[in-house]
Amino acid sequence: MDYPLTGYHHITACAGGAQDDVNFFTQAVGLRMAKQTVLMDGKIPIYHLYYSNAKIEPGSVMTTFPYSRLKGRRGSGQVQATAFTVAKGTLPFWKDHLKKHKIDQQPMAERFGQSFIRFSHPAGLDFEVLEDKDDQRQGWTTPEIALAESVRGFHGAVLSVREVPETERFFIEALGFRKTGVDGNYHRFETGTGGANKTVTLLHEPDRPAGSWTFGAGTVHHIALWGADDDALTRQKAIYEELGYTDASEIKDRFYFHSMYCRCPGGILVESCCNVPGGFEKDEKASELGTKLHLPPWWTGRKEEMMAALEPIRVPETATAHN
Ligand SMILES: [Fe+2]
Repeated sequence: MDYPLTGYHHITACAGGAQDDVNFFTQAVGLRMAKQTVLMDGKIPIYHLYYSNAKIEPGSVMTTFPYSRLKGRRGSGQVQATAFTVAKGTLPFWKDHLKKHKIDQQPMAERFGQSFIRFSHPAGLDFEVLEDKDDQRQGWTTPEIALAESVRGFHGAVLSVREVPETERFFIEALGFRKTGVDGNYHRFETGTGGANKTVTLLHEPDRPAGSWTFGAGTVHHIALWGADDDALTRQKAIYEELGYTDASEIKDRFYFHSMYCRCPGGILVESCCNVPGGFEKDEKASELGTKLHLPPWWTGRKEEMMAALEPIRVPETATAHN
C-alpha cells in the first residue's frame, strides 16, 4: 500500500516563559526563528513560535506554545524526548556548548548504535542531539555554532507508552512505518528510506502514570507528519477511518499549512499536515521570516489586544535571515 505521509513536518511542545524559549532554541540549540504567530485554537492569546533549520524544511520545524498559565504533567502517552541530528563526532562540542549555556544535560548515551546527549529545556522538556552520519540537511548557524556542528533537523521523537503492541499497529498499519529494531525498552519504527526524519521510537514504560493531554508547560503536545498536499491528508483520513480510527479530526486550516489530527492508541496526538501555496511566506518575505508577530487574517482585528496580552520577546538578529 502507498502511504501518503513521508516523514515529520513539526513537533509542538508547550514551553513556559516565551523569552526563555526563544533563548533556548535560538542560542543553545541554534535553530533559526522561522515564524512568530499565535495558537489558532481557543480565545486566549498564546504565542506559537516556529524554529527550524536553514531552509525551514519539513522535518526540522520545532514549534512551541509558551504556556506559563498551566503546567502539564509529564508521563506515558506523551513524547518523552525529541531528537535532533548532528554530524558524527560533534557531541564533544555539544557537551561544552550546552554547559556554556547552563543547560542541564545527561552523560552521552547510545540508542540503536547512535550516540546522543539528552538535555533540558527551561520548562523541563527533553531534547537530544544525536549523531547521524547520513543526514546532509543544512543546519542554521549562529556566532557560536558553525555549519559543521549545526542541528540538521529531527531524527525523530521518542514516545513513552505503557504498552507497545497497539501503538505499533497504529504506526505500521495506519501510517506505513515498519519495525526495524528493539534495543532494551526502545522499539524503533522507520518509514520510507528510514533514518533521520523518518524514525519514531517507542519507549516501553509499563509502570509510568499517564501524562496530561492538555496544553501545559513542560509537555509535548503533538508530533506532525508531512504529506505533499490536501489529497495526502484526505487519503490519510480515509486510511484512519477504514481501520476504525474514527476519531480522526476534520482537516483544519492552519493558514501556513492544513492539518488533521488523530490520537494513537498509546495516547500521543499525531497530526498529519500538508503544504499550502506560499507556506510560511504567505505573510512575510523570505528575508523577513521570524522577525515579527503575524496573526492569521481572521484575527488581524485583534492584533493590538493580543499584543498587549503577550509577553514581549526579543529575537536575536542572528536567528533570522542572515544569509
Ligand atoms: Fe501541529
